Amino acid sequence: MLLHRKAEHVQIVLGKEDVQSSYRFWEDVQLVHNSLPEVDFDKIDTRVKLLGKELAFPLVITGMTGGYPGAAFINRNLARAAAEVGVAFGVGSERAAIVKGAFPESYSCAKDYSVPLKIANIGAPQIIPQADGGRPVGAEEARRAMELIGANVLAVHLNPLQERIQPEGDRNARGCLEQIGKLAKEFPILAKETGAGISKDVATRLKRVGVKAFDVSGRGGTSFAAVEYHRAVKQGAKRQIRLGKTFWDWGIPAPVSLLEVLPQKLPVIASGGVRSGLDAARALALGATAVGFAGGILKAASTSYGDTVEELRLFEEELKTAMFLTGAATVVDLKKVRKIVTGQTAMWLRGHEI
Ligand SMILES: Cc1cc2nc3c(=O)[nH]c(=O)nc-3n(C[C@H](O)[C@H](O)[C@H](O)COP(=O)(O)O)c2cc1C
Repeated sequence: MLLHRKAEHVQIVLGKEDVQSSYRFWEDVQLVHNSLPEVDFDKIDTRVKLLGKELAFPLVITGMTGGYPGAAFINRNLARAAAEVGVAFGVGSERAAIVKGAFPESYSCAKDYSVPLKIANIGAPQIIPQADGGRPVGAEEARRAMELIGANVLAVHLNPLQERIQPEGDRNARGCLEQIGKLAKEFPILAKETGAGISKDVATRLKRVGVKAFDVSGRGGTSFAAVEYHRAVKQGAKRQIRLGKTFWDWGIPAPVSLLEVLPQKLPVIASGGVRSGLDAARALALGATAVGFAGGILKAASTSYGDTVEELRLFEEELKTAMFLTGAATVVDLKKVRKIVTGQTAMWLRGHEI
């Protein structure tokens, strides 16, 4: 079932069905044009440090897949391309390999390439007891997940929305924070959402137990309620069809989540709906350390290595163009440029909490 599910997620995202949130929140962040940039385009410096590693430009290809035969092709293209252009790369949930021994080579292929920062991945529901009675993932399995790809960091993904919609989703979420805290004593942990965003309260609690960085994965890009809705339609699962539709647009808008998490003063990867280097510039201007990109690169990664590198190079050129047009010679300069927040994002930020 698990193998099937990871393959289905990729098929659905690559297929004709709509899996996007209805609103593009990054477009609400408008960078003010500078007609006298006083910058040499060829000298723009996009390098940043993330978790102690230098990236050629501030991009993380965030975890998507692994654990079934076709995933090796995707992960290999992504890892090789990330090494070529000098950005970070994460694999999808490694439960299939570390618990069931399923297709470990679909993850370990990442070891063949010198990616500057590699991110292993496990799910928060898997580190606590669930009704199926299976042994929760503990420190030993977490170590194996990291070793399998030669990871520098372990992402623990938070996905309560997905679990709720998923026909076979886990129902228990009690004790995740405590377990994340235990893992954080042994490994550098990146706390990562999967499309519904991290709030300031959650960020505060995660920092308190020792996580080292956040990937906000907010609303505005791939909607996992939508992905699970399409799986439910295929299975004729009436209850999940209803839930998927109702919660399609659930979550904290990605730019809002970024602003909620920044006060923790830990590295923040802004993600959820980042689809271009211009979106990246918007997120960096708001204060992100780097941006995360998943659904937007899946098609290239499932086509060829060449297409994947090309997409990453275009992304880099868009980012540099946005830096040029705002007069930012470095990523630090980009944080100081003028930005105007409009639309639903502005309404969220100005909305009255009651
Ligand atoms: C096909 C697919 C599979 C995914 N699987 C995982 C996963 O196993 N673990 C995880 O942490 N996130 C997973 N994600 C979530 C992404 O890493 C990312 O947080 C989310 O898709 C939002 O970014 P986007 O709008 O750029 O797609 C997956 C995303 C996609 C598109």
